[in-house]
Amino acid sequence: MKKTNELAFFGGKPLRKNNGPLWPVFSKHEELSLVKTLHSKIWWRNEGTELREFEREFSNFHDSEYGISVANGTLGLEIALLAAGIGRNDEILLPVMSFYSTAMAVINVNAIPVFTDVDPESLCVDIEDLESKINSRTKAIIPVHFAGHSSNMGEILKLARKHRLKIIEDCAHAQGAAWEKNKVGHFGAGGVFSFQNAKLMTAGEGGMILTDRKDFYEKCVYLSNCGRTDKFKTYQHVSVGTNARMTEFQGAVLLSQLSRFKKQLDVRTRNAALLRKMMAGLSGIKLMVVDKRVSSHSNYMFIFKYLKEHFAGLPLGVFLKLLLAEGIHCSTIYPPLNQLPVFKDRLFRPRFRDDEIRVMPDYKNESFGNAEESFASVVSIPHYFLLEEKLFRNIPEAIEKIRKYLRGNPQKIKSLRKLK
Ligand SMILES: Cc1ncc(COP(=O)(O)O)c(C=O)c1O
Repeated sequence: MKKTNELAFFGGKPLRKNNGPLWPVFSKHEELSLVKTLHSKIWWRNEGTELREFEREFSNFHDSEYGISVANGTLGLEIALLAAGIGRNDEILLPVMSFYSTAMAVINVNAIPVFTDVDPESLCVDIEDLESKINSRTKAIIPVHFAGHSSNMGEILKLARKHRLKIIEDCAHAQGAAWEKNKVGHFGAGGVFSFQNAKLMTAGEGGMILTDRKDFYEKCVYLSNCGRTDKFKTYQHVSVGTNARMTEFQGAVLLSQLSRFKKQLDVRTRNAALLRKMMAGLSGIKLMVVDKRVSSHSNYMFIFKYLKEHFAGLPLGVFLKLLLAEGIHCSTIYPPLNQLPVFKDRLFRPRFRDDEIRVMPDYKNESFGNAEESFASVVSIPHYFLLEEKLFRNIPEAIEKIRKYLRGNPQKIKSLRKLK
């Protein structure tokens, strides 16, 4: 018999059995739509109906006028930046706590990413730091709605108006999120969503640009559809562009995913509140404060702080290994973008002229206290754990089990410290 209080990491019984991937989810709906699309023999957007319908329905769901589907969020950000007129010598402000693509999209349009620190509670852009970095070369802000918590769009809009800056929202984590009752995605020129495999709705890959502006929409269509208008004509290429289209198969899957999204959003909202309550008294854990102006949090990640002094000083990476062994899916958040080799070692250099490189930030020597501290201490639980109580109810128990075990078994700590 395995001892129940022995950590699963050391061969004890895990609190939850890991029985294969829990995400994505699908039903007969996806299956039937895929087969229907297959038989239709119309598999590409320009002659199809699935992606067009998804564009309409997704933009309606986000109270936005226009939606243009694109192959993924990374290309969506690049296209949105180009449509906003961003290019050489332009400085673009973005939080240092994000996925690679937020910054790389800026590099890919030959503009200069300027990182800002994040607010330690929301992990969204820190408004004071943002303001301090605005200068005459600044052209746009990319707020990232981190983990589904909207950025402070009231303050960002004020700054954008004052300094005549464009806003391109990175909504990759934020389907259904809202700030003061306004859904994210159309506060500025455009908002970009991702439907990559881990996202809140998915077709494996995929993206969407939302906007309320017709001219911006039309530019995005040209840029993503080989320089053609939406009224498809075979060889009428009247603009620069690329091919960033999704397939009708992805449209079919995403329409099905959207049909259950509202319910999932509500379930996650309820369960995130319940889990917060269950974790409120736990030693060694600090819950993040959600801004009261967030009227809908999409809960792409459920995040909290790990206080290592309650766990024999073990670094976050070791704690995550112990938690994972108990069957709780978890990970760190992103390393600060300036620490990635591509920025730290300026591996993007061939893309730029020497005079451009000279005025770029010294990424390697920059420091962002809140982002660094958060990377070393914040635990992220994926959104799908909030869909069923049987998945998340063990989380507090698993944390307590680890904390008590470490207190009662000091002889094990030395070997745990050696783990990478
Ligand atoms: C914050 C953020 N921005 C942009 C992207 C890029 O989206 P995609 O993977 O669809 O290219 C992602 C993730 O994948 C992301 O998490």
